Amino acid sequence: MSANKRIRQIHRWLSIVFTATIVITAVALAQEDPVMWLSYLPLLPLFLLLGTGLYLFALPYTAKWRHRRTPV
Ligand code: HEM
Repeated sequence: MSANKRIRQIHRWLSIVFTATIVITAVALAQEDPVMWLSYLPLLPLFLLLGTGLYLFALPYTAKWRHRRTPV
Protein backbone atom coordinates (compact mmCIF):
# COMPACT_ATOMS: atom_id res chain seq x y z
CA MET A 1 0.00 0.00 0.00
CA SER A 2 1.39 3.44 -0.90
CA ALA A 3 2.20 5.94 1.85
CA ASN A 4 -0.56 8.27 0.63
CA LYS A 5 -3.19 5.53 0.82
CA ARG A 6 -1.97 4.56 4.28
CA ILE A 7 -2.21 8.17 5.54
CA ARG A 8 -5.76 8.41 4.10
CA GLN A 9 -6.75 5.18 5.87
CA ILE A 10 -5.19 6.38 9.14
CA HIS A 11 -7.16 9.64 8.77
CA ARG A 12 -10.37 7.69 8.15
CA TRP A 13 -9.92 5.50 11.23
CA LEU A 14 -8.85 8.44 13.37
CA SER A 15 -12.16 10.10 12.53
CA ILE A 16 -13.94 7.09 14.11
CA VAL A 17 -11.67 7.23 17.19
CA PHE A 18 -12.27 10.99 17.44
CA THR A 19 -16.06 10.55 17.25
CA ALA A 20 -15.90 7.83 19.93
CA THR A 21 -13.93 10.12 22.28
CA ILE A 22 -16.56 12.84 21.78
CA VAL A 23 -19.30 10.40 22.85
CA ILE A 24 -17.20 9.21 25.84
CA THR A 25 -16.59 12.84 26.85
CA ALA A 26 -20.29 13.74 26.57
CA VAL A 27 -21.27 10.78 28.77
CA ALA A 28 -18.47 11.49 31.27
CA LEU A 29 -19.38 15.17 31.62
CA ALA A 30 -23.08 14.36 32.10
CA GLN A 31 -22.29 12.48 35.35
CA GLU A 32 -23.11 14.02 38.72
CA ASP A 33 -19.45 14.29 39.67
CA PRO A 34 -17.79 14.66 36.23
CA VAL A 35 -14.16 13.71 35.62
CA MET A 36 -13.01 16.98 34.08
CA TRP A 37 -9.75 15.77 32.50
CA LEU A 38 -11.79 13.44 30.25
CA SER A 39 -12.94 16.53 28.34
CA TYR A 40 -9.39 16.77 26.93
CA LEU A 41 -9.55 13.22 25.54
CA PRO A 42 -10.68 14.21 21.98
CA LEU A 43 -7.71 16.56 21.61
CA LEU A 44 -5.23 13.73 20.92
CA PRO A 45 -7.10 12.20 17.91
CA LEU A 46 -8.02 15.73 16.74
CA PHE A 47 -4.35 16.71 16.76
CA LEU A 48 -3.47 13.57 14.75
CA LEU A 49 -6.40 14.29 12.38
CA LEU A 50 -5.02 17.78 11.82
CA GLY A 51 -1.58 16.40 10.90
CA THR A 52 -2.85 13.68 8.55
CA GLY A 53 -5.59 16.02 7.18
CA LEU A 54 -3.09 18.75 6.28
CA TYR A 55 -0.98 16.09 4.56
CA LEU A 56 -4.02 14.96 2.51
CA PHE A 57 -4.85 18.58 1.74
CA ALA A 58 -1.36 19.24 0.38
CA LEU A 59 -1.28 16.09 -1.80
CA PRO A 60 -2.94 17.47 -5.00
CA TYR A 61 -0.72 20.55 -4.92
CA THR A 62 2.54 18.67 -4.34
CA ALA A 63 1.51 16.20 -7.12
CA LYS A 64 1.06 19.11 -9.57
CA TRP A 65 4.37 20.59 -8.42
CA ARG A 66 6.17 17.26 -8.85
CA HIS A 67 4.58 16.77 -12.28
CA ARG A 68 5.72 20.20 -13.45
CA ARG A 69 9.28 19.45 -12.35
CA THR A 70 9.60 16.16 -14.26
CA PRO A 71 11.48 16.68 -17.55
CA VAL A 72 9.54 15.92 -20.75
C1 HEM B 1 -8.53 18.65 12.01
C2 HEM B 1 -8.40 19.04 10.79
C3 HEM B 1 -8.72 18.23 9.56
C4 HEM B 1 -8.19 18.46 8.33
C5 HEM B 1 -7.17 19.54 7.96
C6 HEM B 1 -8.77 17.48 7.43
C7 HEM B 1 -8.51 17.40 6.07
C8 HEM B 1 -8.94 16.41 5.23
C9 HEM B 1 -8.60 16.29 3.82
C10 HEM B 1 -7.74 17.28 3.03
C11 HEM B 1 -9.19 15.19 3.34
C12 HEM B 1 -9.08 14.62 1.93
C13 HEM B 1 -10.19 15.17 1.05
C14 HEM B 1 -10.01 14.58 -0.35
O1 HEM B 1 -9.18 15.08 -1.09
O2 HEM B 1 -10.68 13.59 -0.66
C15 HEM B 1 -9.95 14.59 4.42
C16 HEM B 1 -10.69 13.43 4.32
C17 HEM B 1 -11.47 12.93 5.34
N1 HEM B 1 -11.64 13.47 6.59
FE1 HEM B 1 -10.60 15.02 7.37
N2 HEM B 1 -9.64 16.68 8.12
C18 HEM B 1 -9.65 17.11 9.42
C19 HEM B 1 -10.43 16.60 10.43
C20 HEM B 1 -11.35 15.59 10.28
C21 HEM B 1 -12.33 15.19 11.29
C22 HEM B 1 -12.49 15.88 12.66
C23 HEM B 1 -13.03 14.15 10.77
C24 HEM B 1 -14.19 13.37 11.34
C25 HEM B 1 -14.39 13.19 12.62
C26 HEM B 1 -12.50 13.89 9.43
C27 HEM B 1 -12.94 12.88 8.58
C28 HEM B 1 -12.49 12.67 7.31
C29 HEM B 1 -12.89 11.54 6.47
C30 HEM B 1 -13.82 10.39 6.87
C31 HEM B 1 -12.24 11.71 5.24
C32 HEM B 1 -12.33 10.78 4.03
C33 HEM B 1 -11.14 9.81 4.11
C34 HEM B 1 -11.12 8.84 2.93
O3 HEM B 1 -10.86 9.28 1.81
O4 HEM B 1 -11.34 7.69 3.15
N3 HEM B 1 -11.49 14.78 9.18
N4 HEM B 1 -9.79 15.35 5.57
